[in-house]
Amino acid sequence: MDQMQYRDGQLFCEQVNLDDLAARAGTPLYVYSRRTLIDHLDGLMQAFAAVDPLICYSIKSCGNLHILRLLAQRGAGMDVVSGGELYRAREAGVDGGRIVYAGVGKTDAEIRMALEAGIGWFNIESEAEFENIAAIARQMRRQASAALRVNPDVDARTHAKTTTGKKETKFGVDLERAHRFFERYGKDAHLHLSALHMHIGSPIYTVEPYVEAVEKALQLIADLKATGVAITALDLGGGFGADYEERQTPPYAAYADKLVPLLKPFVAQGGRLILEPGRTIVANAGVLLTRVQYIKMGGAKKFVIVDSGMNHLIRPTLYDSFHFIWPTRVTPMHQPKTRHRAMHQQGLEKCDVVGPICETGDYFARDRALPPVARGDLLAVFTAGAYGMVMASNYNAQPRPAEVLVDGAQATIIRPRETYDDLVAPERHAQPL
Ligand code: LLP
Repeated sequence: MDQMQYRDGQLFCEQVNLDDLAARAGTPLYVYSRRTLIDHLDGLMQAFAAVDPLICYSIKSCGNLHILRLLAQRGAGMDVVSGGELYRAREAGVDGGRIVYAGVGKTDAEIRMALEAGIGWFNIESEAEFENIAAIARQMRRQASAALRVNPDVDARTHAKTTTGKKETKFGVDLERAHRFFERYGKDAHLHLSALHMHIGSPIYTVEPYVEAVEKALQLIADLKATGVAITALDLGGGFGADYEERQTPPYAAYADKLVPLLKPFVAQGGRLILEPGRTIVANAGVLLTRVQYIKMGGAKKFVIVDSGMNHLIRPTLYDSFHFIWPTRVTPMHQPKTRHRAMHQQGLEKCDVVGPICETGDYFARDRALPPVARGDLLAVFTAGAYGMVMASNYNAQPRPAEVLVDGAQATIIRPRETYDDLVAPERHAQPL
């Protein structure tokens, strides 16, 4: 799962004692394990080795340049959804040809930038978008490849805000419309429409929705072939779960056991398989460290008030998502045996873990059983590597946390803590237009 482990009641990331680290680097602090990132990427590659996928890491899940560089060096391409993410990918040295670009609202400036970078595939979301990208490519005398994002109408049984593969979401075109799409645009001289893309939701904890989606995609590929259209790449998107609770996610082999046999014939005929994982690579690789500021007894509740909140990790309040939270230093009796919401131990106390932000929704956990904690204690919010720092804001003029990458016994600051000056500097000078 990851390299965040308790030893004699003390939490370590790889070989680094997290209390020592927080004393040096301050809190709140995002800490990532290099080993975990690599294990996940390698594990996914190995599980799917028989169909040799191009794994395009989804930058939106955690976009720190050092993490992108690390993954790119291990063979990952990148999935981007904006000019900003493309800029990050290029800055990290990712080859344009290994970049896929998705998103329903690509602007002309972003499209030009992507054409100049020679990206591998534009993932096309609508007729209007195809026409616009093709027109810009023509003006720029560039050639590019495109994948049509099809909506397989599969229920991935995930949170309403992160489901994407059902018919009524804004993403992709229905399978029935795909044929007309290829008829109409399949012969464009500048934008070669030769691939299919889908992404059915996130996070997904079962293999079945993928099987269903792949079966539909392969059927569409066969039907298109019968009409003379050759599909050369199939991008299955991301969405693979992460262990917010222990053993919540099927192992990579479970996905591969079901999907590889289905995909093998397509790959054997020269088809390219692309995956766009984000969360499964980076979620468990990261923890958010936060320090207890105050304990407050409310009417019927105990509040643990910490120095980070929805401004730094918005998932609990936005999606009602569960993150395991535990003190980084505990007595042997309170060393967690498993990270699970139903973990039972003697001497736990129910409390709300809340932040400093002036919003009722500013919480990490409600009615959570924790060992006794006091002012000054350090808490770890687990599985915070994905959609943590990337969704952080400066609300209430709170600087964003520093980020640290741990490699064995070595910890490196990969993004310094923001300062108050960082917050106000862009506003110091007004510029007449
Ligand atoms: N590809 C596409 C087209 C996507 O839209 C996404 C995620 C991914 C790949 C990567 O999905 P992953 O492997 O990371 O699950 N902020 C939410 C998640 C939003 C996901 C959006 N799309 C959260 O914190 O749960």
